[in-house]
Amino acid sequence: MIRISSPQALDAEIKKIKSTGKSIGFVPTMGALHAGHIALVKRAVTENDYTVVSIFVNPTQFNNAEDLEKYPRKLDTDSAMLQEVACDIIFAPAAQDIYKTAEIAQTFEFDFGGLDKVMEGKFRPGHFNGVVQIVSKLFNYVQPTRAYFGEKDFQQLAIVHRMTELMEFDTKIVDCSIVREPSGLAMSSRNERLSSSQRETANNISRILFDSQKLKETMSPQELAAWVVEHIQSVPNLKLEYFEIADTKSLQTASNWLEPTVGCIAVFCGNVRLIDNVRYN
Ligand code: PAF
Repeated sequence: MIRISSPQALDAEIKKIKSTGKSIGFVPTMGALHAGHIALVKRAVTENDYTVVSIFVNPTQFNNAEDLEKYPRKLDTDSAMLQEVACDIIFAPAAQDIYKTAEIAQTFEFDFGGLDKVMEGKFRPGHFNGVVQIVSKLFNYVQPTRAYFGEKDFQQLAIVHRMTELMEFDTKIVDCSIVREPSGLAMSSRNERLSSSQRETANNISRILFDSQKLKETMSPQELAAWVVEHIQSVPNLKLEYFEIADTKSLQTASNWLEPTVGCIAVFCGNVRLIDNVRYN
């Protein structure tokens, strides 16, 4: 396994691989790796000749300076974990390797087709702009045959699919199921910031979402959404930001159960913002 920080050095490695016609699996991450990331990497290793993992805490997708500053950074531990699962290349650049100073402040032009106006997009203005800005740059560097994304970031995944189509990347996007802790809590690098009592509190998020799946036959999407909101709000120390039952393709609020739907939630547990989602049909 090699660790590279400059796009030029990465380019040289990618050219070598491409010249042999071998496939490249790519897992973009912001580091602080957990079992969810490792599941993506293992899948990439199984399905491709080479696996590249990027580790880059992308400043342009944070709309909260404290969240950016507190985001865990653990390059050496991450590298050891990646070595164990046979990753070939770690690309861990610094911000100045990726962005010219002006680019950080610039708004990236991208037609989201409305996918960015709801849920995360509504509460984290500019977030998806930053995500598309970095993921498109990384795709240009790595030229992956397949790229692996977790379904925990459901809206991000929908936007990455749209980006791949609109920008005509020759990359297959592989959607990977949410990996959960035994308690049901969706794995996230942010979970590290939870105290043990906050962790107990946070377990209510998936418990309520799973319970709501069982009620789907008896309620409309609006009624079920209201049920989830009420139950989350009744848990002391959880602060709901949003819960939406949305069409999985358009991400617009679902008014019936005819099309596939997903229930997406964002909740603060203390000052840690957690997201999760479940499918209803
Ligand atoms: O999901 C993430 O960790 C990030 O949004 C990504 C895709 C690595 C882009 O910075």
